[in-house]
Amino acid sequence: MEKKWWKEAVVYQIYPKSFQDSNNDGIGDLQGIIQRMDYLKHLGIDTIWISPVYKSPMDDGGYDISDYYAIDEMFGDNQDFEELLKKAESLDIKVLMDLVVNHTSDEHLWFQEALTNPNSKYRNFYVFREGIAGQPPNNWRSYFGDSAWTAVPDEENMFYLHAFTKKQPDLNWENEELREEIYTMINYWLDKGLAGYRIDAILNIKKRIVEGQLPADGEDGLAFIGQWILNQPGIEVMLQELNQRTFKLHDSMTVAEADVPSERLKEYIGDGGFFSMVFDFSYTDIDVPSTGEWFKFSHWNWQEMKKNIYNSQLVTQANGWGAVYLENHDQPRSINKYIPEEYISTTTKKMLATLFMLLRGTPFIYQGQEIGMTNIQMSDLADYDDIATHDQYHRGILAGLSPEEALQAMNRRSRDNSRTPIQWDTSLNGGFSTAEKTWLKVNPNYREINAESAIEEKDSVFNYYRQLIDLRKNSLYQQVIIYGDFQPFEEVAEDVIVYQRILDKQKILVAINPTSEIFEIEIPEEFEKYLLSNYEKAQFVFGKLVLKPYESIVLSNY
Ligand code: NOJ
Repeated sequence: MEKKWWKEAVVYQIYPKSFQDSNNDGIGDLQGIIQRMDYLKHLGIDTIWISPVYKSPMDDGGYDISDYYAIDEMFGDNQDFEELLKKAESLDIKVLMDLVVNHTSDEHLWFQEALTNPNSKYRNFYVFREGIAGQPPNNWRSYFGDSAWTAVPDEENMFYLHAFTKKQPDLNWENEELREEIYTMINYWLDKGLAGYRIDAILNIKKRIVEGQLPADGEDGLAFIGQWILNQPGIEVMLQELNQRTFKLHDSMTVAEADVPSERLKEYIGDGGFFSMVFDFSYTDIDVPSTGEWFKFSHWNWQEMKKNIYNSQLVTQANGWGAVYLENHDQPRSINKYIPEEYISTTTKKMLATLFMLLRGTPFIYQGQEIGMTNIQMSDLADYDDIATHDQYHRGILAGLSPEEALQAMNRRSRDNSRTPIQWDTSLNGGFSTAEKTWLKVNPNYREINAESAIEEKDSVFNYYRQLIDLRKNSLYQQVIIYGDFQPFEEVAEDVIVYQRILDKQKILVAINPTSEIFEIEIPEEFEKYLLSNYEKAQFVFGKLVLKPYESIVLSNY
């Protein structure tokens, strides 16, 4: 298999608003990231992905960009970004930015021009359509609820399309001039020394617009937009051109937010594919109903989780390369999702780390995951900033939840759970900011969970992540962990996850018990070397493993 630096990378995602505030306004910024870069080096990661820092009204956490070329004032300025790149380079850390080109902010000049001057060329940069007798062209529901069409002010019977909020108008990728603008912008940043991009909502760029009423799939009389704008025929021509005009020229790393059907995966992630890798949602969204209505809890179990992980690994392996992750800024904290409240501990956090960090693919650690940060319990809807949380809350109420039940659902699944400020130490606001008020509340458990104590304590989650990263990057097992094949070890109880990574004669075996039961399993005798466990003493004799509750063990045959 072809070796690539990005296959060997360990990526750390930064959600800049919540990473480190350097100017005491309660919001994280680029200088804050620069200050904390040595911490990241100490953790051992070698690549960072920074969620959007471009100019934005922040209707959707910066995924609504009003100027692709400018850093938003709240984060600093373009000079700070240059400085960040330099600092990263001096530490041998590569930088990925977020690429959000399915839509812009409605405050982007292009859209403003398109609105104020219907004859300008910018009209055709977006998707405008005449309505039907004053009603939207169809009854699509956007990803964040309500109609995906908004009436154009002061014009009769004219609407624009937005797959997300009405402040995120969709771009018209059919328009060559628009595409050229996008390529120029991408190359501008790549020329500055970016290593690549995480690519937002890219499977939505090709639209199949049908007019009229579609069968409703919810109480609101609307039909979910997803199936009409996801991965539509013809998108491959757009993705191919995008790749050739930008990423390919720079040999960039790209990771697309894209659930691709397995029969098309090769085109996307195979050698010479559109992207280096994609994020698969099958195991991170395991608790979300297929309608996307996460105010409803979708029941799941570890057998299903195991099936989804195995399937994702095997399909990706057959087609190319993948990204592996358990958390990001759109997910609640993994420990709260996968582990019952009474079992949340350093041990279970280490178990989850072992589970995903040794899979085949490039691992992505989300900020705070490495110190075991947890969900926050907000007691008031007003404390949530996230637009999707407010939408889901109201849809929950409409569907019959009581306010308490709806709030509970938000506590469980809100995206703000992972967006709370990083807990650095025990000082005011967990050391994130000295401002009186931070943009989102700091989780009060910062006194127990914080980076400073995590670094000091030998057995902390943080130091366990360091061990895992070290195993992957610097040990005798580096090659098998990075390039080895993934192979499920089938002869075990349904709830236990055991997989091997195999590269010629080198093998490692990863055994995970995600339950509170004890399991005894038979394993091949060749696995005689003990590498790592989340318990102090792993019980291990040749050919047999006794897995204690929530235990994870890593063994090798050399
Ligand atoms: C996916 C991003 O991760 C999410 O945060 C955002 O709300 C949507 N795309 C829209 O850009």
